Amino acid sequence: MSTQTPVVSPTNERKKVTTHTLLQKKQRGEVVTMLTAYDYPTALALDQAGIDAILVGDSLAMVVLGYQNTLPVTMEEMLHHCKAVARGAHAALLIGDMPFMSYQASTEEALRNAGRFLKEAGMEAVKLEGGQERAAAVRAIVAAGIPVMGHLGLTPQSINQLGGFRPQGRTAAAARRLVEDACALEEAGCFSLVLESVPARLAGLVSQRLSIPTIGIGAGAGCDGQVLVSHDILGLFDRFKPKFVKRYADLHAEMLRAFGEFIGDVSARRFPAEEHSLEMADEEWTALLSGLDGGGPASA
Ligand code: KIV
Repeated sequence: MSTQTPVVSPTNERKKVTTHTLLQKKQRGEVVTMLTAYDYPTALALDQAGIDAILVGDSLAMVVLGYQNTLPVTMEEMLHHCKAVARGAHAALLIGDMPFMSYQASTEEALRNAGRFLKEAGMEAVKLEGGQERAAAVRAIVAAGIPVMGHLGLTPQSINQLGGFRPQGRTAAAARRLVEDACALEEAGCFSLVLESVPARLAGLVSQRLSIPTIGIGAGAGCDGQVLVSHDILGLFDRFKPKFVKRYADLHAEMLRAFGEFIGDVSARRFPAEEHSLEMADEEWTALLSGLDGGGPASA
C-alpha cells in the first residue's frame, strides 16, 4: 500500500462525481471522501484537491455564523452559502443540508424546500436527519428526482431530545433501532447515509447490511466513506474539538500570526512599502502641481 500523498489533479481533469459514482465506489471497495464547505474559496480548494462530495452542512450555523447549535440556521442562509459553493466546485457531488424545520412539518414542505436546493442554489442532492419517521418525506423527494442522503446516530437537530451532543446506539435496543432506521431509509430511496457518533462495530454492521454507501463521522473505519467538518480539520474552529476529529492544520493560529504581523507592520510604518504603492509619470505629476491653486501641496 502506498503511503505517498495523492497527487492533486486540477478540477477540469476530473470526471463529474454523481450519486452513481459513490455507489460504484462502494461496490468496488473504494472509500468515499466528503468534507464540508460554506464558501467559494473552500469549494475551489476541495474540488481541486479531488474530494468526491462536498456537503454544505447546517454546521454552517456553528462554525461560520457563531450559533451554539445548528437549530437557528434558516433556509435562506443555507441557500446563500450553497450558491457560493456551487460557483466554486464543478467535479465534486454537491449536497445541501436541509435545516431544522425545513422538512419536519409536512411532506409537502419537505419536497418544496428540497427542490429549492437544486433549483435556486446549484446543489445536486439534499441531506436530512432522522429514521423511519422521515421515510415518507424521503420517498416524496426522491420521487421528484432529487437524490437524498440520510443521517442517523447523533443527529444535531435533535440535541434537545438526545440530551446534548452525545454518542448514540450504544445499547442493544438503540443499536437495533438504528439498524432498522438505516434499512428503512435505504428502502425509501436514500442514495447514501451519514452515520454520526456511533460505535465502530455498529457502523460496520450497518455498512455491510446496506447496499448504499455509508459515510461515517465518528463512526470508525468500517464505513464506506468518511466526512468531517472542514473548519475542524483546518483548526479554524477552536470552541471545542470532538474526539473523532483529526486536525491537519492550525489555521486559527496562522490567522492570529498574520493579523498580528499586519497590525505590527502598519503601526511601525513598515507597510505599505514602495513595492505595494502605485507610481505616476513625472510629467503628469508636474502638470497636476502647476494646475493647482498655490502651485502644489502645502508641504511641497
Ligand atoms: O452539518 C454538517 O456538517 C453535517 C456533517 C457533520 C455530516 O451534518
